[in-house]
Amino acid sequence: MTSNQLTLFEVEGPVDHSSTFVSNMSLPVHRWYRYSAGFSARWVESVISDHISNIHETAVFDPFAGSATTLLAAEDMGVRSCGVESHPFVARIASAKLFRHSDPDRYRDFANRVLASAKRRKPSDTEYPDLIHRCYSSEHLQALDRIRTAYETFADRSPASELTWLTLISVLRSTSHAATAQWQYVLPNKSKKRAQHPFDAFASATKMFTRDMSRSKATATPATFYHADARNLKDIPDNSISLVITSPPYPNNYDYADATRLEMMLMLEIGGWSDLQGAVRTHLVRSCTQHTTTRNTDLDHLLTSGELHPIEDEVRQVVQSLSEIRQSKGGKKNYHLMIAAYFHDLAIVWHELRRVCIDGSSTCFVVGDSAPYGVYVPVHEWLGRLAIAAGFENWTFERIRDRNIKWKNRKHRVPLCEGRLWVRG
Ligand SMILES: C[S@@+](CC[C@H](N)C(=O)[O-])C[C@H]1O[C@@H](n2cnc3c(N)ncnc32)[C@H](O)[C@@H]1O
Repeated sequence: MTSNQLTLFEVEGPVDHSSTFVSNMSLPVHRWYRYSAGFSARWVESVISDHISNIHETAVFDPFAGSATTLLAAEDMGVRSCGVESHPFVARIASAKLFRHSDPDRYRDFANRVLASAKRRKPSDTEYPDLIHRCYSSEHLQALDRIRTAYETFADRSPASELTWLTLISVLRSTSHAATAQWQYVLPNKSKKRAQHPFDAFASATKMFTRDMSRSKATATPATFYHADARNLKDIPDNSISLVITSPPYPNNYDYADATRLEMMLMLEIGGWSDLQGAVRTHLVRSCTQHTTTRNTDLDHLLTSGELHPIEDEVRQVVQSLSEIRQSKGGKKNYHLMIAAYFHDLAIVWHELRRVCIDGSSTCFVVGDSAPYGVYVPVHEWLGRLAIAAGFENWTFERIRDRNIKWKNRKHRVPLCEGRLWVRG
């Protein structure tokens, strides 16, 4: 434990859902797209109100903005905010949600025109990938194809057009009979009982979007959003941020690219799984082994680059253990590369955050630790130390909940937790 660490305390009591998206599904606008990786908007609001001393001086930033939860919450509280997200598909979802203050009638007319045109059209002769055929009945796929092609004839990147794009994206899971895993990966071999007809689902979603937009109060502090990379915050001015609220990817092998595979395939943005590498993963911090191959990851360079210096000895030990253990495993996963690359990328993010944050700022990272092949990685402690090395003053960790204590079939028995890493300075 370093001298910069202040306290380490545990919270006991009822299960805390602040790190999950669950409660957002009952909130206007947030509910337009279920993003399993998201956190609670109500919790973000509580953090903002705890940190506002002067509303005009507060500026909130989310460097891993995802579906824009932080930005929508800041707008609702009349606080200035900005955010970046580098996953191109998720960034488009966030931008579309932030158009909630545009004209609801114009949006409704646009979406209704698309639906009316879809109902009159013949299906196109588009060849969809096999996964899409396994996830939709031919009737539903034809209807979705007609909405997609109708949308494309009208699309003009206006707010109404982007919101209509999101309306279509928002119904792609409920109109499929394929199940969705907890982390949004599609499970074509598992079925759910009911799949909504795409025309009905699109019409209901249009009504919900219109209702939510009509009720959204105008904001004097519209969020600024960039489709950009947290490792290069060139759009954010120096010393401009007082409060960072975010949840970075955890080094737990969750593949953000795969989470939107179904949607990106149906919209013909990718042809298959292999296209995710160039289209999505290259833009993200390296938190899954699909992203870190021996061809694209130079381990020696990562370990000697200086970014990892404050935690280098411990990283080397973990990397060594993982590279030995993988030899005895069938999958031979590159966890050793992933761990080195992940902390290297997050070290760069901390340097960027130091530049954009004012002195005396507060940063909250919702983050979980991990144990690939059963080797424990003290994620919050290493991130805290990297933050200090980047120039912040101190860090604390607030445990929210334990993980990996109930799962059956778990691959290892190392107890894990999720919590809030607070960095100040
Ligand atoms: C845990 S999620 C954040 C979800 C968000 N709090 C919400 O409620 O929607 C982490 C996000 O970081 C994004 N991400 C990964 N690498 C990134 C990078 N280099 N720059 C910006 N965003 C990145 C992922 O695409 C993902 O959407």
